[in-house]
Amino acid sequence: MATRWGICSAGKISNDFVVALQTLPAQDHQAVAVAARDLSRAKEFAQNHSIPKAYGTYEELAQDPDIDIVYVGAIHPAHRDLVLLFFNHGKNVLCEKPMTMNVKEVKELISAARKHNTFLMEAFWSRFFPVYEEIRSLLDRKVIGEVKLVRAEFCASLLGVPRAVEKELGGGALLDVGCYCVQFASMVFNGEKPESVTAKGFLHDTGVDETVTIILQYSGKRQAIITCSLATEMPNQAVISGTKGMIQIPSYMWSPTSLIVNGKETKYSLPPTTKHLYFHNSTGLSYEAEHVRQCLLKGLKESPVMSLVESELLATILEEVHVLLGICINAE
Ligand SMILES: NC(=O)c1ccc[n+]([C@@H]2O[C@H](COP(=O)([O-])OP(=O)(O)OC[C@H]3O[C@@H](n4cnc5c(N)ncnc54)[C@H](OP(=O)(O)O)[C@@H]3O)[C@@H](O)[C@H]2O)c1
Repeated sequence: MATRWGICSAGKISNDFVVALQTLPAQDHQAVAVAARDLSRAKEFAQNHSIPKAYGTYEELAQDPDIDIVYVGAIHPAHRDLVLLFFNHGKNVLCEKPMTMNVKEVKELISAARKHNTFLMEAFWSRFFPVYEEIRSLLDRKVIGEVKLVRAEFCASLLGVPRAVEKELGGGALLDVGCYCVQFASMVFNGEKPESVTAKGFLHDTGVDETVTIILQYSGKRQAIITCSLATEMPNQAVISGTKGMIQIPSYMWSPTSLIVNGKETKYSLPPTTKHLYFHNSTGLSYEAEHVRQCLLKGLKESPVMSLVESELLATILEEVHVLLGICINAE
């Protein structure tokens, strides 16, 4: 039986997610309904992607009995309320990153998922790319020995994008792009809590963080150094350095198609599409969708690869950095 997806919001990432879904076998994945705040936009989205049902409210999507899981692709300040709405109607949820605006909200969603016995995963799609799977396998086999140092950067010229810079839309380099680097370091260090979090950065005129460099210090003299920015571009690579060698991910470290292990490069191809995509390598969202399907088929309530406890840890680190930069992101 196909996994029946409901799509919450008709924005950019929802477009890419549905295009990615449609690169997968139709007997496994179907987008069955889309909801947007405006019915005409939902209908247009549905028509573009041959989705049978379109709703002009999220509530109607929540009430649709023919949906196995809702993909929440709205902006992050809306995530908390939307996930709770879908849980209240017994729906499983794949929620775009960052899961919410702060730790308090993440904890609330985790408790609600447990209370309703519903599946919840933060949509860090990077984790499901073949390159990331290979990295986890290389680290498990200690191919580069003991990891000592991690570097990751995600810097993009996004100052002209309202969602990236406006506080009420969830703007800020950390929540928009830096979180990918934090999840990367966290994956490499097996979800361990850093011993300390240090950060320096600059705020944009709107009060959100514009450029930030973070040092996460882990036990046993291990570090991760992360840089994120909305003001400029960087090579956007990641490096893991161990006692016996080095793993490099050339750009884009969050959606990679190439991996260099001790100087030897392996290339990976993505599912092809002819449809319009807003973001680099977005058909790679299909790996995440298939992972979620496998979790649901097994009756899991969370992913073993992107667990809820790790989502809470990531939110804790991001919030610590916000505090260090003097940014307050309240739950209310
Ligand atoms: N995985 C990835 O690669 C990736 C890439 C980009 C973004 N993201 C994440 O995905 C989410 C959406 O990003 P996006 O680039 O797709 O954003 P977007 O296209 O600007 O907006 C997405 C949707 O959010 C809702 N929305 C927009 N402005 C709103 C407002 N002022 N108040 C309430 N709702 C509003 C709209 O839903 P309706 O359609 O219902 O009106 C809109 O379609 C963010 O959380 C972002 O961090 C993930």
